[in-house]
Amino acid sequence: MSGLIKISPSILSADFSKLGSEVISLEKAGADYIHIDVMDGHFVPNLTIGPEVIKKLRPLTEKVFDVHLMISPVDNFIKDFADAGADIITFHPEATSDVSKTIKLIRERNKKVGISLKPKSKVELIEDYLDKIDLVLIMSVEPGFGGQKFMPEVLEKTKIIRDLIDKKNLKVDLEIDGGINFENCSRVKDAGVNILVSGSTIFKENKGDLKKNIEILRNS
Ligand code: DX5
Ligand code: ZN
Repeated sequence: MSGLIKISPSILSADFSKLGSEVISLEKAGADYIHIDVMDGHFVPNLTIGPEVIKKLRPLTEKVFDVHLMISPVDNFIKDFADAGADIITFHPEATSDVSKTIKLIRERNKKVGISLKPKSKVELIEDYLDKIDLVLIMSVEPGFGGQKFMPEVLEKTKIIRDLIDKKNLKVDLEIDGGINFENCSRVKDAGVNILVSGSTIFKENKGDLKKNIEILRNS
């Protein structure tokens, strides 16, 4: 599995006063995707960035913008994030009254569709949509903040979703987000994850050596 592992650094741990150069540094350091956490102070108790910032970052890199929307209701903003340059748009099923409609809104803009499950959200919430989406994002912390402790109990759900994807022979990526570090990264790969999001580990370990930290997460 490890040959197919992608690393999606979360810019939530970057220096927001120089976000542009941070994104360029991540590209140089070998990031596969750029994970962008969008929070509204309502769906989660924190505020981050909106489409305007993404639009300004877009010309700086060709890397995939992996946009994680923690906003509710989500539908009103899909167009803005698509136009701003998101490549993957991931939403939480609890943030919409009609999951199929939200999927359709993202598809109409020719963007990849992701659905995210909070630590306590059940597999059943996404099961019926698996063949209509491109990615499942497992939250291994309560969404809202970087730097929290990994919740190992989500691995059981991760394995179940990996089995469903494989059984149905689907081309759905399985991504994990929250508290990923050098110690747990091999465990999450064993559970079937193929994309790892990481904020604090990538920006803070080894004195912020992005390249080294990305390599360790990818290869261990
Ligand atoms: C939390 C965010 C995560 C977070 C990851 O709501 O979705 O992407 O920034 O940061 P770390 O790796 O520090 O847990
Ligand atoms: Zn995220």
